[in-house]
Amino acid sequence: MANKGVDIAPAEGKLGILLVGLGAVSTTLVAGVEAIKRGISQPIGSLTQMGTIRLGKRTDNNVPKIKDFVPLANLDDIVFGAWDIFSDNAYDAAMNAGVLEKDLLNQVSEQLASLKPMAAVFEQNYVKRLHGENVKEGKNKMELAEQLIEDIAKFKTDNGCDRLVIVWAASTEIYVEESEVHTSIEAFEKAMYDNDSRIAPSMIYAYAAIKSGVPFANGAPNLTVDIPALTQLADQHKVAICGKDFKTGQTLMKTILAPGLKSRMLGLDGWYSTNILGNRDGEVLDDPENFKSKEVSKLSVLEHIFQPEVYPDLYGQFSHVVRINYYPPRGDNKEGWDNIDIFGWLGYKMQIKIDFLCRDSILAAPLALDLALFMDLAQRANMKGVQEWLSFYFKAPQTAPGLYPEHDIFIQLMKLKNTLRHLKGEDLITHLGLEYYD
Ligand SMILES: NC(=O)c1ccc[n+]([C@@H]2O[C@H](COP(=O)([O-])OP(=O)(O)OC[C@H]3O[C@@H](n4cnc5c(N)ncnc54)[C@H](O)[C@@H]3O)[C@@H](O)[C@H]2O)c1
Repeated sequence: MANKGVDIAPAEGKLGILLVGLGAVSTTLVAGVEAIKRGISQPIGSLTQMGTIRLGKRTDNNVPKIKDFVPLANLDDIVFGAWDIFSDNAYDAAMNAGVLEKDLLNQVSEQLASLKPMAAVFEQNYVKRLHGENVKEGKNKMELAEQLIEDIAKFKTDNGCDRLVIVWAASTEIYVEESEVHTSIEAFEKAMYDNDSRIAPSMIYAYAAIKSGVPFANGAPNLTVDIPALTQLADQHKVAICGKDFKTGQTLMKTILAPGLKSRMLGLDGWYSTNILGNRDGEVLDDPENFKSKEVSKLSVLEHIFQPEVYPDLYGQFSHVVRINYYPPRGDNKEGWDNIDIFGWLGYKMQIKIDFLCRDSILAAPLALDLALFMDLAQRANMKGVQEWLSFYFKAPQTAPGLYPEHDIFIQLMKLKNTLRHLKGEDLITHLGLEYYD
């Protein structure tokens, strides 16, 4: 089953991680990496830093760390950059986000204060609740993309970077449906010159990234790089892309629990999910048009895991409701409740209640780090286009056209690890295990 492996360029030199949006997730990522580099904290929640991978048979006892198995950039070789509509440096932005304690931030204050965001590409209509001053001007959207391309090139030279990766961790944009301007590169570029309102700022960043040969990961539910024009462009330029929407809090719990319920053929009448959240993300999502993007991304998960068309008696009629309420006192410390109405043998009804007192950005930061490191690996391994093996990190994984996304977190993890084994020419693990009984 093993192949000879894939040629992977070494992770030499510096890796620049450019973050679109310098808010709660991004500052928690940057401060965290600085703290980890100094030995103040551990990279908990990060598969690239703490995860292992089994190679060969169970009896081989060969379980290296993932970072020792595939060539990933070292944390010491990472340089961060960012764009934001506010000009606060990362220290002020982190204080403002209120995720990490002042004591911790003060220990890495120098590195944070030196990270000043570049001017953003922003359109008020896409995020109505925010009003920033650090915004680029241009006579059309193509000109804005060209300014971003210049930013990217300048960042790379100024910081002596060997490679770059871009991660969208900016506010969720309003819901946009795919339309004719998104269907081909030509239509998309024409729409950029025409300043068409259907070209979202996030799409302009994605376009600039791909044109610059830089992998792009989308941490929010916006359509962004999940349109034919940009997937074609990524293929053409041999650039890795992936999205959408970091899988943290409630959706993480859903994709852990739902496969378990289904594995035991327990039926589902309904799954009601509600959240209170008081950070800036919560404020943006308080606008119905922005919430719609999140809702669509959150709702897709159960349909795909339970497969109502295959199991009509168990999952044919369940109702799935998702709410997010903006509630300032909680800040980034979200509380997510789930009420799950299930039924078992002979149709007898049962209930499960979950109350997850989580911390949104604490859950998201390690995902952003892993994505940046794995996207850099993918690029060095010449893996162009949509990186479905990174579905593990997303609420609404991007796939090839016509392919349904895999949401079950355990299948996603197996897919990710088998992709790493494949890259290195190791046997894939099927869990068949008959050989132990020969
Ligand atoms: N934290 C989580 O658990 C989680 C999970 C999934 C997805 N997300 C998504 O990640 C994103 C970031 O979350 P957050 O909590 O850090 O939000 P945040 O509001 O703290 O930060 C977002 C930042 O993006 C900036 N911004 C908005 N539009 C921009 C643009 N066009 N260009 C550059 N900067 C722009 C804002 O000024 C803000 O500083 C959101 O879209 C959120 O929905 C977060």
